[in-house]
Amino acid sequence: MSDRPKLRPPFIGREDQLEKMMARLAFALAGQGEVILISGEAGSGKTRLAEEFQQLASNTRCACVSSTCLPGQPAYAPFRQALASLASLDPAIAAMPSFHVFCRAEGGNGQGLMDGAKEEGSLFAAQELVRGASARLPLVVRIDDLQLADPRTIQMLHFLAREVINERALIVCTYSDDELFDRNERPHPLIEATRIMKREGLCEEIPLAPLTERQLAEALNGLLEKELEGQALSLLYRESGGNPEIAVELALEALRSGALILGEDRATMASWRTLGAPPALREWIGRKLEALPEDQLRLLECASLFGECFDAELLSLALGMQRLETLELLDAAVREYRLYVEAGDRYLFRWGVVRRVAMERIPASKAAELRKAIDRARSSRDNPD
Ligand SMILES: Nc1ncnc2c1ncn2[C@@H]1O[C@H](COP(=O)(O)OP(=O)(O)OP(=O)(O)O)[C@@H](O)[C@H]1O
Ligand SMILES: [Mg+2]
Repeated sequence: MSDRPKLRPPFIGREDQLEKMMARLAFALAGQGEVILISGEAGSGKTRLAEEFQQLASNTRCACVSSTCLPGQPAYAPFRQALASLASLDPAIAAMPSFHVFCRAEGGNGQGLMDGAKEEGSLFAAQELVRGASARLPLVVRIDDLQLADPRTIQMLHFLAREVINERALIVCTYSDDELFDRNERPHPLIEATRIMKREGLCEEIPLAPLTERQLAEALNGLLEKELEGQALSLLYRESGGNPEIAVELALEALRSGALILGEDRATMASWRTLGAPPALREWIGRKLEALPEDQLRLLECASLFGECFDAELLSLALGMQRLETLELLDAAVREYRLYVEAGDRYLFRWGVVRRVAMERIPASKAAELRKAIDRARSSRDNPD
């Protein structure tokens, strides 16, 4: 997501993940590095976990460098940027020939405009640089948002993964696993690369679940420096599905709009109607909806009008679809797009705010037709004859 809130809640939970990462760091310090892939839905706290880990790692004698993948970057740019910042930590690294070859080289455009020899040269120079630098200082290289990386950067990750297993270096990457799809794209190259790296024992995945309601309460109480009143907390939990970024954005927006009032020592909701979605969150939801295949979007629009939960049978009746077809779409929506979670024989929206925004975006005439179809579906199920 973009436009991060200025305020940060205290870091809550994720003890198991940090512990696992610290154990991997101990191996790396002893010369057996690895790639760590922190995965989770957008806003689940991947970067924050990586930052907290880097903070702990920098208290040992590690050199920590980082970079973020951006769409349309030249090939290898995230690695080039991260490794280039080693120069300020150790001038001897800046003097290495591999540093000059890799960090001063010009990249291709990520889509393939780089000739084979140059490409191979970059891979070997990066390998040599990681080898040389980690012989001087243990390294933690963080690359954020791998879902945006070009195929060559992903290839470089795989190449370096084979190198770091024998070096004092950890490569910590984050990626949003609910953004590995595109309406027109073939399977994302990261999916295949991750599968192979795991099979080769080169990487460990650290998946992040949403925060629990109790963890979210602790994070928001810390952010607001007040105790969030129960009803406000359950609303924020439902709307965000325990996603810390969505919860933080909604809470800050509620503060701005006056929907959330800070009392002496409690934060209370002034009005249940005014929990708005801030522009950055709306934009993220809009992008998510626009990237969905058309049949998924159609299904989601109809489902949003049922309420926070719906059942597959009524949904297929309303949409005039075969039940099996509906179930297949819902299955993909649960697994790939994380739009819903299964709750017995019903489906719940994963993030309440996505349902709300999706519903608001349906043109009025279409929403009226869909509502009529839902009423017809309900009455035909209740009166089958
Ligand atoms: N464990 C946590 N405890 C408290 N706050 C957290 C926690 N994890 C994340 N946050 C907060 O939630 C917000 C989003 O976190 P972060 O940017 O790390 O998510 P992300 O998964 O990297 O998002 P994106 O997919 O957009 O890159 C930040 O304000 C962050 O401080
Ligand atoms: Mg992030």
